[in-house]
Amino acid sequence: MTIEKTRAVLAKSELSDEDIVHLLSLQNLDDCRLLQEMAYARTTELMGNYVYYRGLIELSNICTASCRYCGIRRENHDVKRYTMNLDEVVEAAVWAANNGYGSICLQAGERRDEKFIAYVEEALVRIHAATVSPERPEGVGVTLSLGQQTLETYRRWAKAAGCPSQLRYLGRFETSNPQLFKVLHGTRGDHEKELENRFQMLRDLRTAGYQVGTGVMIGIPGQSLEDLCRDIRTFQKFDIDMIGMGPYLLSEGGELQNFGQMAPEPLLQLALNMIAVTRLVLGPINIAAATALQAIKDNGRELGVAYGANVVMPNLSPLQYRTGYQLYDGKPNLKDSPEQCARSLEARIQSIDRQIGWNMSGSSRRWLRRQGRPNEEAPTQKA
Ligand code: 5AD
Repeated sequence: MTIEKTRAVLAKSELSDEDIVHLLSLQNLDDCRLLQEMAYARTTELMGNYVYYRGLIELSNICTASCRYCGIRRENHDVKRYTMNLDEVVEAAVWAANNGYGSICLQAGERRDEKFIAYVEEALVRIHAATVSPERPEGVGVTLSLGQQTLETYRRWAKAAGCPSQLRYLGRFETSNPQLFKVLHGTRGDHEKELENRFQMLRDLRTAGYQVGTGVMIGIPGQSLEDLCRDIRTFQKFDIDMIGMGPYLLSEGGELQNFGQMAPEPLLQLALNMIAVTRLVLGPINIAAATALQAIKDNGRELGVAYGANVVMPNLSPLQYRTGYQLYDGKPNLKDSPEQCARSLEARIQSIDRQIGWNMSGSSRRWLRRQGRPNEEAPTQKA
């Protein structure tokens, strides 16, 4: 009986690779429920009852990278390219701050030219100036999700953001399997796409003072449960503060259509299992319930929270740009305004007995401890 084995594995204080693979493999209702309950309880114990919003602003879909799974890779000429102007960016950030969001996340296609670096820098300076107040001395918190850059650029942006205790960067390494990584990113001799450079990015981000986030895609064709276990071990190795990860979904704009995609139900379950096991192994970190979960099932993000996630990223990008930012097919919320997204989400989060951490910074507790600031861990902490 797998249920006996699952119970025995979940009772352990430390999981072996074999245990992790077992938990990732679960598809049967009773086993999955046990895993879910354990991950949810562990999250409550380690992180409190709050779920934090990071308002997502998709700055630009112009991209110099050729990731073969992604709908906005540079070779996809069917996408109309856009870049938000600075007034639009600041407006979205101010909306987030005024509506109780502790922080925002700026995401864009990958560019390393000076024009782009200066654009982000100016956006950060203006966002800080527009959101700083006596109650919020650092302004709104900022997470950047802007691809691989140099240490110098990370430092420039960190300085411009002006929020040292709420400064975060998300840079996924996508998979720790080097062969699979190569298949995903092509072999055009683009050395910057090597997996090792992704790992260097994580070290550089730490050096530049960010809370360091990473993640992988789950259920990539050709990816094994052992690969996912190695991904979790890699999160541990880099002492990661935050994770954003979601299911791999086929993209018409990509070039991996022939490889197919896992069937939705087992894919969703695998992604949820991965969140739960990451919580059990990594402990007091922030884990985001990716929007891609919702692309499979309407309540996918809430399920992510039920399985141990404690961050969600409502989309604040102006509606006219949403269709231009489709990394995968079936991306949800293309038509919902920020107000609609946020309101319906709060009720959904409350339905699984979590509260939104309005106006709270919601830093990774692993990071706070590393900084020697454990007294800021109290769940009532305000930004
Ligand atoms: N399916 C799921 N996630 C995807 N991403 C890009 N394309 C896809 C896809 N087809 C994710 C990658 C990237 C993040 C910005 O979006 O993990 O790091």
